[in-house]
Parts: sequence; C-alpha cells; structure tokens
Amino acid sequence: MIRILTHVPALLSLVLAGPVCAAGPLAPAGAPADAFPKPDRPVAEIVAPRWSSESARDKAGEFTEVARAMGFAPGETVADIGAGSGYYVVRLSPLVGPGGRVLAEDVTPDYLTALETRVKDLANVTVVRGEPHDPRLPPASVDAAILVHMYHEITQPFGLLYNLAAAMHPGGRVGIVDADDIPSRHGTPPALLRCELTAAGYRETGFHPLKDGAYLAVFSAPATDRRPSPETIRPCRDGATRR
Ligand SMILES: C[S@@+](CC[C@H](N)C(=O)[O-])C[C@H]1O[C@@H](n2cnc3c(N)ncnc32)[C@H](O)[C@@H]1O
Repeated sequence: MIRILTHVPALLSLVLAGPVCAAGPLAPAGAPADAFPKPDRPVAEIVAPRWSSESARDKAGEFTEVARAMGFAPGETVADIGAGSGYYVVRLSPLVGPGGRVLAEDVTPDYLTALETRVKDLANVTVVRGEPHDPRLPPASVDAAILVHMYHEITQPFGLLYNLAAAMHPGGRVGIVDADDIPSRHGTPPALLRCELTAAGYRETGFHPLKDGAYLAVFSAPATDRRPSPETIRPCRDGATRR
C-alpha cells in the first residue's frame, strides 16, 4: 500500500500534464466536412513541416516579398494556415508587433508540439489545432491569412475555404503561395487554384510570380452571408492535374 501511494504524485503530475500537444481549436466547429464536395483532383500527402530550408528561403527573399505583397501591418491579426515548423510565424510576430497577433494553425499534432516549443517566448503568437476542413479560428477576427506550400495537401479545400471565410474580417486578404505544378508533385496550377477559390466565393485581387517556380495568389474572402452554400459548390477539373 505504502509503495503504491509513493507513486501517486508522479502519476498525478502525468495526468495534470495533459496531452502532448496542448494546442487546441480557438472556436466551435464550423460547417462539417461531409457538407462539402471533395476536390476532383489528386491531393498530396503531408510529408514535412516545412517547404525548404529557412536559410535558402531567406536568401531568396521569400518572406520579404510575400509580406510586401500582402501588406502586413503592425497591429494586424494574421493567420498562418498550415504553419508547419513556423518559418512565417517567427517572422510575422515582430512585424505585427505587440498590438497584433499571429494565429499559427496546423492539423498535424507532432508539428504543433514542435511549433509550440519554438514560439513559447513570443507573446503575440497563438498556436491553434484545426481540422482539414476547418481552421477553427474565432469568427471575424483575422485581417489576413496565408496558406504557404500547403494548399495541395488540403483534403477538404472547399470546407476549409468556407470555414476560413467566417474567421476573416469582411474583405480580409488571403494569400496562397504554391509551386506552379500538379498536386501530386506538391503544387497547384494557378488556373485550378482560381477555379476552386472562385467556386468558394473568393475574388482574386493579385498574382505575383515568386522565385523557383512558385507564386503568390491573393484573394479577398467573401462575407459570411455571401459564401456559396456548401451544396451548391461544384469542384473543378484541370487537365494539368491528370498527368
Ligand atoms: C509543406 S508544409 C509547409 C509548412 C509552412 N507553411 C512552410 O511554408 O514552411 C505543409 C503544412 O500544411 C499542413 N497542412 C496540411 N493540410 C492542412 C489543412 N487542411 N489545414 C491546415 N494545415 C494543413 C501540414 O501539416 C504541414 O505542416
């Protein structure tokens, strides 16, 4: 009996420590995954929490170029959807400053655990666990969102776009960075991207070629009451994805 009792504090601290990944959703669930059509094209597997090395990206000026085109400003709330290892998160944090906020969202528990460790000293960063069809962000809270080298991995793009729109301030900017390639090679052809975003009610406001065959496409999110209802959304086909 005495021996069992001596283990109680250790067991208790394990229980109190909770799950390995503490990040959770920031909002109640939006529209459910099964309300939306699946994309009519391949979806790439999630293989890594980063696109390429941070030094190579800095050398290519990726963050500077995307930040300028997106017009991020101090005081803004910026959501990084599919934040991975946090390349953008740690650069956005000083840019939006103490009056702003970075919502670092992802769906992969191991990546979220590592990201929490990386950003633990950044007071304006919140790590969020979302779902493939729903980033689970608070309604009407986000000025700008970025989805960097991850759009081709979203199993439920129409659900994610529908639920993301509810988290955006009216007219909020959504920037998508991807390689101009087919989804099975971890890219999204711009014409296919435009078709899917348009089907979800988004309006393209800018397109910027980036280095190494990538691009940034910028869209304006639809107001919540202007989103096409899930059952009316028709998926897009693109000949380029059939290769
Ligand atoms: C190649 S990594 C890119 C990470 C980061 N954006 C970057 O540029 O380094 C793709 C990330 O997207 C995440 N992801 C895939 N599908 C997602 C979804 N539906 N919602 C949110 N994140 C997703 C993966 O877990 C992974 O961390």
